[in-house]
Amino acid sequence: MGKQKIIVFSGAGVSAESGLGTFRDSGGLWEKYNIEEVATPEAWNKNPEMVTEFYNMRRKQCYESKPNAAHFAIAKLEEKFNVEVITQNIDDLHERGGSSKVIHLHGEISKVKSSGPNAEKKYFHQKNWEVKIGDKCEEGYQMRPHVVWFGEAVPMIDEAISRINSADIVIVVGTSLNVYPAAGILNYAPHNAKYYLIDPSEVSVPSYFNVIRDSASKGVPELVEKLLK
Ligand code: OAD
Repeated sequence: MGKQKIIVFSGAGVSAESGLGTFRDSGGLWEKYNIEEVATPEAWNKNPEMVTEFYNMRRKQCYESKPNAAHFAIAKLEEKFNVEVITQNIDDLHERGGSSKVIHLHGEISKVKSSGPNAEKKYFHQKNWEVKIGDKCEEGYQMRPHVVWFGEAVPMIDEAISRINSADIVIVVGTSLNVYPAAGILNYAPHNAKYYLIDPSEVSVPSYFNVIRDSASKGVPELVEKLLK
């Protein structure tokens, strides 16, 4: 028999204990910033300086952070399972934790792209955390973060759906499941799969989920131990 397939669907909570703030918890990013002012195409058109600064700060924090026990444990699952991580996070902590297959639904902060037309498929690694106004592509358009803004399409959504389609086990960790279409991929997982949710807060999920009310750095390694036995 082939390896069982595990889909890990993660959100900001998996990186919280690495020092990267979540969005909707108290003290979260969306309490300090207006989504409309930093994370939409309109914000970019109106105030590219502010948007660039916002994502520079996120990139700086990301580059200064380290994977935590949850990221490492998820990578460890690969010893026995075919594991695919589908994350809403733009940080690269799953990769640095050792996961080999990671789909980023909302883009990657370590990459930039041209803000000009037809830029969608050309990404550049941003080595230094700071993108400056004046950093331009060959055609003269300002570089922007390779992230998905509210109001933009989610290019990886179909890929994510096709992966979760054949899951034997689904592990949801650190997401409030508030943002669509990302959260909607769970509807495409098989009915007979096993479902786990790890989150310290109450997150609304169907009753067939095994809910583990715990932080990622504790709850994930414990579940991983159990699954690897
Ligand atoms: P949210 O901020 O909405 O939710 C974070 C979740 O993490 C909550 O359910 C918390 O209870 C949980 N959490 C907090 N600390 C935790 C810990 N130590 N261990 C485990 N869980 C913890 O973040 P997301 O659901 O990821 O999109 O947000 C989804 C999307 O909204 C983001 O990708 C981003 C944001 O706006 C875009 O910017 C397009």
